[in-house]
Amino acid sequence: MKITALNGFKDIVPGEVELWQQVEDTARDIFARFNFSEIRMPILEKTDLFARSIGEATDIVEKEMYTFVDKQITMRPEATASLLRAYIQHGLHVQKPVQRLFTIGPMFRHERPQKGRLRQFHQMDAEVLGTPNPRVDAEVMAMGAMLLKELGINVSLEMNSLGCPVCRPGFRETPLTFIEDRKDALCDDCARRSKTNPLRVLDCKNPKCREQVEEAPSILEHLCNDCDEHFEAVQKGLQQLGVQYSLNKFMVRGLDYYTRTTFEFITKDLGAQAAVGAGGRYDGLVEKLGGPKVPGIGFAIGMERLVLLLQQQEETEIEPNGIDIFVAGLGEKASEFAFSLVHSLRQQGMHTAMDHEGRSLKSQMKQANKVHAGYVLIIGENELDQGQAMLRNMENLATSHGWRWPGYQGRRRRCPSRAALFCAGFKLWK
Ligand code: HAM
Repeated sequence: MKITALNGFKDIVPGEVELWQQVEDTARDIFARFNFSEIRMPILEKTDLFARSIGEATDIVEKEMYTFVDKQITMRPEATASLLRAYIQHGLHVQKPVQRLFTIGPMFRHERPQKGRLRQFHQMDAEVLGTPNPRVDAEVMAMGAMLLKELGINVSLEMNSLGCPVCRPGFRETPLTFIEDRKDALCDDCARRSKTNPLRVLDCKNPKCREQVEEAPSILEHLCNDCDEHFEAVQKGLQQLGVQYSLNKFMVRGLDYYTRTTFEFITKDLGAQAAVGAGGRYDGLVEKLGGPKVPGIGFAIGMERLVLLLQQQEETEIEPNGIDIFVAGLGEKASEFAFSLVHSLRQQGMHTAMDHEGRSLKSQMKQANKVHAGYVLIIGENELDQGQAMLRNMENLATSHGWRWPGYQGRRRRCPSRAALFCAGFKLWK
């Protein structure tokens, strides 16, 4: 019987992986432009890390974590908590008062799989630790927006403020009463949340609940002066950078650590899984995890959702990872020669391939096409004796007959520009 991957776990195979690489390359480029350094953390962490940061009463901690109960360890469901744990453990705040860190990797949540929702998914996560400055909130959102724009993905940025420990507790009672009055009309999840995490009811995507909370009071009207000023300054920063946004007073987010600014990059093109990326400020979290009193803000973008969106767009061109040159040896003697030639070209940095099955020229040319070779070097036994080969440019199909390698003192060598790269260091044929 065939063994297949687990439900909600996906292979990323050649043909698709190139798009992932392009997305990742673009992200790394953008992160570098904003002066972020990479950090990599382990996948397994102590369960307590997530319970303390994401919150005991969240869906993630309550029912979605992959936990080894006997060992009290969990496969990370998101990157922020692990990143902060590493930041504290290595005293990164001492090295630099403001750290800008990013990480890319797999996360695990036991959710019901559907389009754009997996159990193992990948996030590109960026965090700035050490500054409360609202300009940084704007800068971080602008970075996310720039990344999505450069990838050609159309999203809208929605933003809210969740206040701080000064103003939020006062507000919590207001929706509580509002929700209590309507709890019979809410979905099952919200009926439960109305007791454990009532603000989350405001954020429910179920149309039934949406209808109920339409008139709910907004936290934006209950912000304390400091939070209000902060939120105004964030908006000013976004306007200054030309980043479009809209306010969404119902955005609560599914993780408990947020304070003040929260935001989501939303698409209309992925059905229920509308958030391509999301994040916010979490000013008390580092301290809560045993670190210094350091504010933070960041976001994570879901790579599966990005890739789905790109695949849905007709103009997305996946550039195949082609090779520089395919060496086609015809006959045993030429193949033996090609074997060491290919190795030598690889030592010189060329992306090179050859056939090992003694196939005909026609079938080797097909193979070269399949691996998107820029050039094919054709070597027959006669050519080998004469110290020459035929170089075919696979883009314009021009063939340079009598192409000579360095050291051969016969006719002048005709060498196309890309091939010149390896001609220079080519020492095998003397
Ligand atoms: P989150 O909203 O839970 O936030 O996830 C961020 C993004 O990860 C989502 O917008 C989505 O694109 C992707 N994502 C989440 N769950 C899945 C899934 N099951 N399948 C596919 N993609 C998924 C966080 O994780 C926070 N740590 C973000 C953050 C960073 N806040 C501050 N810094």
